Amino acid sequence: MKHLIAPSVLAANFAKLYDDIQMVNKSEADWFHIDIMDGVFVPNISFGFPVMQAIAKHAEKPLDVHLMIVDPDRYLTACKESGAEIITVHYEACTHLHRTLAAIKELGCKAGVALNPHTPVSLLRDVIQDVDLVCLMSVNPGFGGQKFIDRTYAKISDLRTMAAGINDALLIEIDGGVGDKNAALLLEVGADVLVAGSSVFSAESPTEAIRSLKNVVHGAQQV
Ligand code: DX5
Ligand code: ZN
Repeated sequence: MKHLIAPSVLAANFAKLYDDIQMVNKSEADWFHIDIMDGVFVPNISFGFPVMQAIAKHAEKPLDVHLMIVDPDRYLTACKESGAEIITVHYEACTHLHRTLAAIKELGCKAGVALNPHTPVSLLRDVIQDVDLVCLMSVNPGFGGQKFIDRTYAKISDLRTMAAGINDALLIEIDGGVGDKNAALLLEVGADVLVAGSSVFSAESPTEAIRSLKNVVHGAQQV
C-alpha cells in the first residue's frame, strides 16, 4: 500500500481556513488530521467540534481526528457527528481502552490509539487486534512545530513486529516533527501514515510540500 499523508489543520491559517481546506482537497493529501485538545491532557487548547463541523462541511477527504483529551468516551458520539471517519484516543487517557475502542467501532468509525513518546508499544499487545491505527507521537503532544524524537524509528519497527500475523492491516501513523528530512526513513521502517503540520503549512508551497511527502521514495534514507 502506498503511504498516506495527513496534513495537520492545527498548522493552518485559521483566519483563512476555507482556503487551506481547499488546498488540501486539491492536493495529493489523503486525510485531514484534526487535533482536538482540552488543556488538561495536554497543556494547550486547539479547537472544538463546531470548528471541526465547519471543516467537515468543506473537506472532501476523511477526517482523521486525534483526541488529546481526558476521558474521551464522553465525546465519541459528538466526534462522529462532527464528521470523524477515524477517531484516535490516547492510551494514557483511557482507563478502559478496550471498551473505548469498541465504542468507536460501534459508531462506525475506524479506531485508533495514540502513544506518547514515553509509552512503550508493548503496552498495546492485548489490544493490537482491536485497532485499525496506532498513532506514535514523535513529539510530546500539544503543540506543532516541535523537534522529532529519534527513538520513534525503533518504536515503529517494534510495533510492526508485534502486529505481524495478528493485525497485518494495522496502519502505523507518525505525528510530530515529520517532514522531508525524516519521511523516507519513517516509511522504510514501517510507517503508513505521515501527519505533517508545520512542514506543510509553513512551506512556500504547501501543495508542493504535500506532493513531495507523498512521493518520497522508500529506501532513499536521508536522516
Ligand atoms: C501535536 C499534534 C500534531 C501537530 C503536528 O500535538 O498532535 O498533529 O499538529 O505538528 P508538526 O507537524 O508541526 O509537528
Ligand atoms: Zn495530531
